[in-house]
Amino acid sequence: MGRLDRRVAIVTGAGRGIGRALAIRLAREGACVIVNDLDGGPTEDVVGEIRSSGGQAVACAGSITDPEMPERLVGLATEAFGDLHIIVNNAGYTWDSVIQKMSEDQFDAMIDVHLKAPWRLLKAASEIIRIKTKEEANRGEEIIRKVVNISSIAGTRGNAGQSNYASAKAGIVGLSRTMAKEWGRYKVAVNSVAFGLIETRLTEATDEKKLINVTGNTIPVGVPVQNIEAMKQAIPLGRGGTPDEAAGAVLLFCLPESDYISGQLIEVTGGF
Ligand SMILES: NC(=O)c1ccc[n+]([C@@H]2O[C@H](COP(=O)([O-])OP(=O)(O)OC[C@H]3O[C@@H](n4cnc5c(N)ncnc54)[C@H](O)[C@@H]3O)[C@@H](O)[C@H]2O)c1
Repeated sequence: MGRLDRRVAIVTGAGRGIGRALAIRLAREGACVIVNDLDGGPTEDVVGEIRSSGGQAVACAGSITDPEMPERLVGLATEAFGDLHIIVNNAGYTWDSVIQKMSEDQFDAMIDVHLKAPWRLLKAASEIIRIKTKEEANRGEEIIRKVVNISSIAGTRGNAGQSNYASAKAGIVGLSRTMAKEWGRYKVAVNSVAFGLIETRLTEATDEKKLINVTGNTIPVGVPVQNIEAMKQAIPLGRGGTPDEAAGAVLLFCLPESDYISGQLIEVTGGF
């Protein structure tokens, strides 16, 4: 028996990095996982990996900023697995500039992916959550559902060059705390996890100019080697976290052991 048997989870941005590691761990605990990512190949790979280890998962590739994506994800959860218990708003990327060089599109893109899309997904999930909670209450049952919103220490503490990303990542903490209050009556625990340095594509130490394409925009990824080395020196544990360590922190909020924790923010930073 897994600790999440019969639980149904949506993880956005689960084709790589933290989301990928989390989707695999949730499935290992018995959850059925809807795997979303912008990129189809990585999405299918994660679903294949989960299924080949005996787990259950369904792929749903496409941008979480597409206004129809949240309904698609919730529809898939209910069609494929009949319920929805866990939502992890993880998808995202960064698009940095100092404020005088930042375009409005650049600002809006970060708000869209890190704040508005998570808000839309919660809104899309609200009907099924209300219906299922009522059915459970009528049977004298209580199942605590879980939302985990992924933030960043850029949001909780600020970071030069990230006025767009930091604003969105601060906003998601406000959204989490509000939904913890609004959805307590539906037995949903809502928390945020803010990461420091986790070693993924987003933070890959590189002095090459690497670019990715996100919904039509070409965006640099990676962080200069010197900056990453300076960050590591400031981290008491002396290194960045692995995707699996990051996923472990999110998993804590998804497990029944944390059912009575809601409205909280934890920073996962190796002590930074
Ligand atoms: N890595 C870190 O140090 C760090 C620190 C703080 C916060 N975070 C946050 O953690 C989350 C995961 O980041 P990661 O480090 O695993 O990065 P990553 O680049 O390894 O993975 C992010 C995934 O999200 C997907 N994605 C991006 N935009 C999307 C969209 N519009 N729709 C669907 N999928 C989309 C990407 O394709 C990618 O597979 C992000 O929200 C990020 O801001 C990461």
